Amino acid sequence: MKLGILSCNMKCYSTRRLREAAVYRGHKVKVLNTLRFGIDVAQGDPDLFFRGKQLTPYDAILPRVGHSLTFFGTAVVRQFEQMDVFCANSSNGIANSRDKLRSLQILSRHQLGIPETTFVRDKTDVIPAIERIGGEPVIIKLLEGTQGVGVILAETAKVAEAIIETLHSARQNVLVQKFVKESKGRDIRAFVVGDQVVGAMRRIAQGTEFRSNVHRGGRTESVDLDDSYRETAVRAAQIMGLRVAGVDMLEGKDGPQIMEVNSSPGLEGIEAATGLDIAGAIVDYIAAQVNFPELDVRQRLTVSRGYGVAELSIPEGSDYVGRTITDSGLRERDINVLTLNRGTSIIPNPKSSRVLEPGDRLLCFGKLDGMRDLIPEKTRKARRPKVTKLPESETH
Ligand SMILES: Nc1ncnc2c1ncn2[C@@H]1O[C@H](COP(=O)(O)OP(=O)(O)O)[C@@H](O)[C@H]1O
Ligand SMILES: [Mg+2]
Repeated sequence: MKLGILSCNMKCYSTRRLREAAVYRGHKVKVLNTLRFGIDVAQGDPDLFFRGKQLTPYDAILPRVGHSLTFFGTAVVRQFEQMDVFCANSSNGIANSRDKLRSLQILSRHQLGIPETTFVRDKTDVIPAIERIGGEPVIIKLLEGTQGVGVILAETAKVAEAIIETLHSARQNVLVQKFVKESKGRDIRAFVVGDQVVGAMRRIAQGTEFRSNVHRGGRTESVDLDDSYRETAVRAAQIMGLRVAGVDMLEGKDGPQIMEVNSSPGLEGIEAATGLDIAGAIVDYIAAQVNFPELDVRQRLTVSRGYGVAELSIPEGSDYVGRTITDSGLRERDINVLTLNRGTSIIPNPKSSRVLEPGDRLLCFGKLDGMRDLIPEKTRKARRPKVTKLPESETH
C-alpha cells in the first residue's frame, strides 16, 4: 500500500518508528507535513494539494494530529474522508477526543466506567455540583489540557470554587471530576489498534504527585490487562471512531474508569515499557483495512428523499415485544434493521427470526414516514415543527 503519515514533527520517535515499520514491511510511505496541505472544495470534486501541487493518490492515511493543530489537521483528514481514502482515525473521532468533556459525554450513554464528572458555568452552581459527585476532594480539568498540564487536585470545595472562578475569569472551560483515590497516583494506558489492545502499561506517579503522566515524571511498567480493561479500552476507541488510540483508565474499586481517549498516542513510552513493536502492529492493521474506508453512514444513506437512518425503541408493553423481526412488518414498511442494541451488547445484522424484547433499540434504515409512527409520541411532536406565518404587525 501507499501510506501517508500526517505529522508536523518529522523527527519525533513515533513518526520515525511508524515510517520505519512501513518501509520494513515493503510499503510505500511518505511523512506529509500537515501544515503544507491545501484543501480545495469544489462541487463533486473534493481535492487536496500538498506543497502547492496536486496530491498523488494514497491508499491510506495515518493522522498524527498535534493538539495545537486540531482545527486544520481535522479539516485535512475530513478532506481525505471525502475523497474515500482510508483514514486510520476519523476527523470526528480526533475532534471529539480533544475535548475531555465532549468525549465523556459521548461515552456516558454506554455501559463503560467513567469517573463522575460535572460541568457548570455559574459560580453558584459549583458547590452543589461538587456535592453531587460525592464531595471534596475533587479534580478540576481544563477541557483541552494534555500531558497533565491543566489537571488540578482541589482538597476542599472552597478551594475548588476559587480555582474554577479564576479559570472562568481567564475564559477557560473546566470540568469537575470525582477524585478516584484508590488509583493512588497510578493509571493504565491501553494502546488500541483496531479491535484489540496491542500493548498496555501502568504509569505510576512519583513522590507526592497524583498525576501519572510520563511528562510529569511518571514511571512506567508493562502490564497484562484483564478482560474488563481490554474490553473497555476497545469499546471506548470504537465509540469515539478511533482505530488507533491510547485509552487512559484509572483503576477504580469497581474496575476501569476511563479518563480520556487519545487519538495520537505516543509510541516511545509504550514500546519501551512493553518491548513490543507497536508501530508494526499499526501498519499491519492499516494494510489489512485499506479497502474499507470509514463511511459516514448517515451522510450516504440519506441521499434519497424520504429515506434515512433512525433508532427505534421497543418499550415495555409495545406490540412488537415477543414478535420476530419478520413478524414485526418492518420490512413491508420499507425499513431494514441494521443493528439491534440490547443492554450492553450490539447485534449487527440481526437475523429475521430474532425475537424482539422490551428495551431493545433498533438502528434502522428506511422510509422515514414509516418509522415516524414508531417513535414515541412525545419526541415525535418535538421533531415536527410547523412553520407558521408571523403576525402581520411583526413583519414590518
Ligand atoms: N479523576 C481522577 N482521579 C484521580 N487521578 C486522576 C483523575 N483524573 C486525572 N488523574 C491523574 O492525572 C493524570 C492526567 O489526567 P488526564 O485526564 O489524563 O489529563 P492529560 O490529558 O493532561 O493527560 C492522569 O494520568 C491521572 O494520573
Ligand atoms: Mg492523560
